Amino acid sequence: MLKVGILGGGQLGRMLLQSAANYPVETFVLENDENCPSAHLCHHFTRGDIRKFDDVYRFGKGLDAIAIEIESVNEQALEKLEEEGVAVYPRPAALRIIKNKIAQKEYYRERNIPSPDFVITRSPDEVKQYASFLPAVHKLAEGGYDGRGVQVIRSEKELSKAFPAPSVLEKMVDIYKEIAQIVAIDQQGGITLYPPVEMVFDQELNLLDYQLSPADITDDIKARVEAISLDAVKGLQSAGIFAVELFLDRKQNVYVNEMAPRVHNSGHHTIEGNYSSQFDMLWRIILGYPLGNTAEILPAALVNLLGEPGHNGDADYQGLPEALQRGNVFIHLYGKRQTKPGRKMGHATILGENKETLINEAHALKQIIKIRTKK
Ligand SMILES: Nc1ncnc2c1ncn2[C@@H]1O[C@H](COP(=O)(O)OP(=O)(O)OP(=O)(O)O)[C@@H](O)[C@H]1O
Ligand SMILES: [Mg+2]
Repeated sequence: MLKVGILGGGQLGRMLLQSAANYPVETFVLENDENCPSAHLCHHFTRGDIRKFDDVYRFGKGLDAIAIEIESVNEQALEKLEEEGVAVYPRPAALRIIKNKIAQKEYYRERNIPSPDFVITRSPDEVKQYASFLPAVHKLAEGGYDGRGVQVIRSEKELSKAFPAPSVLEKMVDIYKEIAQIVAIDQQGGITLYPPVEMVFDQELNLLDYQLSPADITDDIKARVEAISLDAVKGLQSAGIFAVELFLDRKQNVYVNEMAPRVHNSGHHTIEGNYSSQFDMLWRIILGYPLGNTAEILPAALVNLLGEPGHNGDADYQGLPEALQRGNVFIHLYGKRQTKPGRKMGHATILGENKETLINEAHALKQIIKIRTKK
């Protein structure tokens, strides 16, 4: 049996491990928190820091392959492990490009991949020189996730919000829709794409509100989304699963926002909505099996289950029987003991024939399921 390690023990790792149970693979997880979502689903749990060279190197030595569920891992250790014969998904060279938003934006520019125009800033004073570039979005080069590390700067009055660290200042796009495209690449370079999805955001939390699959876009836009995503991903020269986040603006331009070289939150619905889920697909890639079928079984909506405002502490999941009573609703709780306002505690997938029903169901579920603290 192949020995495969996962760096990071969050919900993505958890769902990856749920799929691993179907295959001849021995799983290992490296993560600091012994009670993380993945801890109880792997064969071997190692406590350690995924950002530290020694922890990652020691963990990876002797494994056949390593996958990541988050980008903030020690890529030097992965490089050394790769040299010593461990297969790493994605290749460390690809991870290096994506991990740093400055390197990622330069990559798009070099390859002529459409992406919003940008300048690099290294200090807040430098940002002030780019007043003519506003309105813009300031993005920390490293360490941001889930919208933290992203700051909208509309006018000169807001320049004080700029990050005091190396960042990208990107032109504000007049977004009509946010699209995500998941691409799978096997070890021989064989490629398959999932149907693109469309995302609707919560303005306040800057977190995904709900997501629809497939995206409601014209064939022409879909073709451009696919072509741009393929171009962006192929240049990384790595096998694995890749998620490309794109913007469609009001003039029908398509831009790459960013990429993730791993299973991604925009692919959670593929567990029930598509024949081969993104998690199943990554195991096929790692284990050297044929790629799976990405076609959808039914259209799907995905709702994040977030901690209720004002509730901090042991999580209590309310409304699950009522939610599950509705047709084609599937619940995924991530096994996080403590809830916090806005924390991603799980998600629900809804399958249905048409977009209107899916949107109505998504709104209904958000009212029905509440994650509070125990009384
Ligand atoms: N150039 C832009 N113009 C307009 N809106 C933007 C731009 N860049 C980012 N945004 C908005 O901010 C959100 C978060 O940006 P981005 O995806 O770059 O950051 P992130 O921290 O990696 O987020 P996540 O981890 O949630 O994907 C985007 O989904 C989009 O809604
Ligand atoms: Mg993003």
